[in-house]
Amino acid sequence: MSGYIDLHCHPLPGVDDGCRTADEGAQVLAGLARIGFRVVVATPHVRCPTWDNRPETVAPARAALEAAAGELRRAGAAMPEFHTAAEHLFDDVTWERLTSSEAMTYPGGRAALIELPYDNLPMKLELRLWRLQKTHKITCVIAHPERCAPLAKSDDRLEELLGAKPMLQLDVMSLTGAYGTAAKEAARRWLSQGRYHLAATDTHKPSDVPKVEEAIRVLRSLGGDAAVQKLLCDGPSSLVAV
Ligand SMILES: [Fe+2]
Repeated sequence: MSGYIDLHCHPLPGVDDGCRTADEGAQVLAGLARIGFRVVVATPHVRCPTWDNRPETVAPARAALEAAAGELRRAGAAMPEFHTAAEHLFDDVTWERLTSSEAMTYPGGRAALIELPYDNLPMKLELRLWRLQKTHKITCVIAHPERCAPLAKSDDRLEELLGAKPMLQLDVMSLTGAYGTAAKEAARRWLSQGRYHLAATDTHKPSDVPKVEEAIRVLRSLGGDAAVQKLLCDGPSSLVAV
C-alpha cells in the first residue's frame, strides 16, 4: 500500500466545527501521517449562513495551518501532502455554487464532496445529482451516507440514490459505532455488500486520530487488506488529481 488518501477532514482552524487553532490542525495532519496517510484534503463545512466558506475565507486559515505544519515538519514530524476542498451541505446555495463553478471541488475539479441532511433527503436529489454529472461534469461524493437516517433504514432508498451515480464515502468511524447503532449497522452492511466507493476519516480534532486508527483496524478486520486498498487508496485516487 502506497499510503492512504483522506478526502474528508477538518484541520483548517476556526472555519467550522473542526480544529480551533492552527496548532491543533497541524497535530491532526501529523497524526494522520503517523497512521499512514500520504495525502490529506481538508474539507471545511459549507453550511450557509452558519459557515459560508469560500476560497477567500479559508485562505487565511490555510496559511496559518501551513505555518504550524511547517514548524512540526522542521521538528522532525512527517507531514502529508495537503490540499483544500469543502464539504457542502446539499441545499440551494450549494446547487447554485456547483452549477456556476463556485463550489470548492476536489483537486482537479471533477468531483465535489456533499453532505445530506441527517433526517431527511432533499427534493429532486437524484435529478440534481444526475444533472451535475451530465451537464456540469461533476461527480458528487456523498459524505457518510450511513449517518443519513432515511438511507440507513432503507436499502431500497439507497438503491434509488445510486441510480444517479454518486460515489459513496464511508466514514470509517461509523464502523466502530461512533455515530450510533443505526449508522454502524448500515456501514457494516453496505461495506459487506461492496457499496462504498471510498472511505475517509472526518477527523475534527487531534483526539479523533486514535479513533480513526482503531476504525481502520476494524475496516481491515471486516474487509481485509483489499477493502483498505480499495477504500483508502484506489477509490480516492481515482477521483482527484493528487
Ligand atoms: Fe465532515
